[in-house]
Amino acid sequence: MATPSSVRVAVHGASGRLGRLIVAEADSSYAGAIGRTGPIPPCDVVIDVSSAVGTTALLSRLSGQALVVGTTGDLPLEALATYAEQAAVAVVPNFSVGIPLLLDLVRRAVGALPSGWDIEVVEAHHHHKKDAPSGTARRIVRAIGRPGVPTHSLRVGDTFGEHTVWLCGPGERIELKHVATQRSVFAIGAMRWARALAQAPNGLQQP
Ligand SMILES: NC(=O)c1ccc[n+]([C@@H]2O[C@H](COP(=O)([O-])OP(=O)(O)OC[C@H]3O[C@@H](n4cnc5c(N)ncnc54)[C@H](OP(=O)(O)O)[C@@H]3O)[C@@H](O)[C@H]2O)c1
Repeated sequence: MATPSSVRVAVHGASGRLGRLIVAEADSSYAGAIGRTGPIPPCDVVIDVSSAVGTTALLSRLSGQALVVGTTGDLPLEALATYAEQAAVAVVPNFSVGIPLLLDLVRRAVGALPSGWDIEVVEAHHHHKKDAPSGTARRIVRAIGRPGVPTHSLRVGDTFGEHTVWLCGPGERIELKHVATQRSVFAIGAMRWARALAQAPNGLQQP
């Protein structure tokens, strides 16, 4: 099993906005890019930051490497669960440190609210982002745990990623908000996950 310092990481989607930053962050751990065809470079962990279609095609080419899926959209969750029988797999729609904390705060706030409060989620991303609502917004809605929570998506300028949960009652409002101020936060988090998965047992994690 690779130690966190010796882990070799290959990147699927290496030429993309996030992929390029992960390659830089991986530094000497970088084992190479995974293209649409061709061999998978020898590696311990694959980081996938491509597209949902790309993730689906990638799965049939892997052979037991640990897999960090940062791609969002309509992912092939059944196929990922099947692959996780032979490898450690994590599906992480947001690599930041703050979003897991936001999810905790949201759960606590929703659990403590009196009845009758409205809850809605607003997310904003750069205008190149393809999926809406974002994978993180979907994750937040799961954490809220109520049916039919509305989400609103803005695709504006070069916004890296903002998520706000609005909790609105009579005469008052709480806003729980996370803002990614640098895209590199996602690359740092992707490598944190890669090092963790290199040590992890087989199975699917969906934090
Ligand atoms: N988990 C997180 O924290 C986080 C943060 C930011 C973004 N994301 C997600 O990461 C993904 C990539 O985002 P991005 O902004 O880097 O996108 P991007 O700039 O469009 O880059 C996408 C990359 O994936 C490749 N790709 C696209 N479709 C593919 C396919 N069918 N097969 C193989 N490779 C394919 C592209 O290659 P070509 O250039 O050849 O098309 C490119 O290298 C998105 O799903 C986004 O939502 C996740």
